[in-house]
Amino acid sequence: MNVGTNELLQRAWRKKMIVPGFNIPYLPMLEPVVQALRDCNSFGLVMVARLEWMKFEARSLTAVAEEYHRVKDERYTRLHLDHVPVIDEDNLRVNYLPIIRNAISAGFQSVMIDGSRLSLANNIAATREVVELAHAAGVAVEGELGAVMGHEDGPTGSYEEIFASGKGFTDPSEAQQFVRQTGVDWLSVAIGSIHGAISNAFKDQKKVEARLNIPHLQRISEVVNIPMVLHGGTGIARRYILDAVQYGCIKINIGTALRQPFEQTRGASVVKAKQAVYDTTLSLLRNELDVTGSASVINP
Ligand code: 13P
Repeated sequence: MNVGTNELLQRAWRKKMIVPGFNIPYLPMLEPVVQALRDCNSFGLVMVARLEWMKFEARSLTAVAEEYHRVKDERYTRLHLDHVPVIDEDNLRVNYLPIIRNAISAGFQSVMIDGSRLSLANNIAATREVVELAHAAGVAVEGELGAVMGHEDGPTGSYEEIFASGKGFTDPSEAQQFVRQTGVDWLSVAIGSIHGAISNAFKDQKKVEARLNIPHLQRISEVVNIPMVLHGGTGIARRYILDAVQYGCIKINIGTALRQPFEQTRGASVVKAKQAVYDTTLSLLRNELDVTGSASVINP
């Protein structure tokens, strides 16, 4: 019997070890990600977000689950459903419960409900509803509080201005209330990271080098006693990520860093594009995230 994903993240959290989550906007990316995790003896999550089957070529939630179950190696991997928004990046309401139910039936082992565009009270209510549903099936839940920007269309303003103002950052006392009242297993926090752009106008551009407000994270970690999640993991200087892990932010979501090499090489051939994903994943695991060998500790 496999150890549950929440137990694995709890182990990583207690030992202050990174669990990378890799997004799969194109189905052929899945196999080289699993292979790189295995070859580095690293534990990580394979993830797909709703926008990746709506706006990219992950095709569907079940297509990703089928591909995952074909190539998985559960010594090193688990399948996670990333961002199911209540209100999406285009400001449209999403019928999120059927998506969560489908994911659970398809074999996703953890899910994210993203109520971050709602008021605190509505975010708590939606997240609690998903926690009840998922926990009844033994599936772990990630919630989000605060605004990790970047997926929206159009200009978001200067990064430095947003960072300096702390606009959208997770409020520590709200985070404490959110965790207590929802029963979520992991909390995605806003502390300076941003998502890589996905609009056609910007998605090929080099992502801004985001920073993290580590003292702010420390204040959240004093009142939140569960693993925390960093979205927008691409392009953040290594020293910030290593510091964030020390304060309990151990799940690091990475999308753009693998998507761009895939998109840049797939015109030549899918084989070349898969190789590019493999090489980039390997380099991230070894050189940026320091997780070589982590599977032996997290899932021995
Ligand atoms: P990046 O694309 O910026 O790495 O962000 C990925 C992410 O946070 C997915 O949830």
